[in-house]
Amino acid sequence: MPIYQSATFTTADARELGDITADPRSGYSYSRIANPTTSALGAAYAELASGEAGVGFASGMGAIHAALASQLKAGDRVVAPLALYGSTRTQLVDTFAGFGVRVDFVDMTDNAAAATAIAAAQTRVVYAETIANPTTVVTDHSTIARFAHEHGATYIVDNTFASPYVCRPLELGADLVVESATKFLSGHSDVIAGVVAGRADLMRQVQKVQIDTGATIGPFDAFLVLRGIMTLAVRVERHARTAAALAGWLERQDGVQRVLYPGLPSHPQHDAAMRQFRPGVAGGMLAVEVVGGREAGRAIIDTLTLTELTASLGSVHTMVVHPPSTSQRQMSDAELADAGITPGLLRISVGLEDLEDLQDDFAAALAVARDVAGAVEQPAVGV
Ligand SMILES: Cc1ncc(COP(=O)(O)O)c(C=O)c1O
Repeated sequence: MPIYQSATFTTADARELGDITADPRSGYSYSRIANPTTSALGAAYAELASGEAGVGFASGMGAIHAALASQLKAGDRVVAPLALYGSTRTQLVDTFAGFGVRVDFVDMTDNAAAATAIAAAQTRVVYAETIANPTTVVTDHSTIARFAHEHGATYIVDNTFASPYVCRPLELGADLVVESATKFLSGHSDVIAGVVAGRADLMRQVQKVQIDTGATIGPFDAFLVLRGIMTLAVRVERHARTAAALAGWLERQDGVQRVLYPGLPSHPQHDAAMRQFRPGVAGGMLAVEVVGGREAGRAIIDTLTLTELTASLGSVHTMVVHPPSTSQRQMSDAELADAGITPGLLRISVGLEDLEDLQDDFAAALAVARDVAGAVEQPAVGV
């Protein structure tokens, strides 16, 4: 797809311009409203996600905002999971609540609790993540979609951690699916972007919010995401194969308290993952709890040499973060505990490196973390 690097598009005469700016539109006039390269991204994502229509955004947060704003007005209520990406949580409790939207959080993996929360008052939107950031909690979309629809609510899913190669929430009952295309879709940490897909009537409302609020993706960024999508399948296959092997290996290491990877039988929602994911492909994201809490977690980050110390995920490079001090740092300790985040929790986005190299790196880091944990547990006499 070429990059149509232009803000404006000329027309032959007033009648053609009238056709373009009428509703429904045909053609292109101004790139905040539509652009051939960005429209191609929307169409590509819709096809990948099994949606009727799709739209590209300037960021994942812009996509989430438009999906929510297209459904909500003052006085409406959202039910969202306790295990939720930190910035989505703050968008809900700061921006949307500030405009008079009520937001209630629930453990979405507890069917009885979720059903009760959705039924407790009129619910306009039920929101969830396929694989939660950072805890890898997996949502049972078919069940939650049924609860939402029984109460007339729209079910919106953030599928960033899975990507459409692993899971397609629209096929499981979701009404709108959003993704940070910054992550697996583009795949190389060189663009900030977002996407939304769903039914054509719902997407018209999403696009209206985009045109009104302006979080439009630029043509060059859309081109980068389109180029990333061309290798999505081979990248995610490899991410997932290495992640599964690394997760199994980490589970057997001293100093590792717990490994959370949806592909492991020990994962609390392993069955839901197996029902909903592409067979044998449980994604490239895992979480590890190390013995020794915050200090040991920090020691791992500081000792690893192969991995990138950064806040993102879904790239060719392995990235390890310590959410309590990065993506979830805006949450209080109590909120962190509610979201299932322990002080020693590390999130690993497995890249395309060789498994053996990653194992060597983690083995060295865990050895340091074990020393740190030992020192924390046995303070020197007299200290
Ligand atoms: C699950 C999830 N959703 C949304 C976002 C926001 O995406 P962006 O940074 O592209 O705005 C992120 C970013 O890390 C994320 O992890």
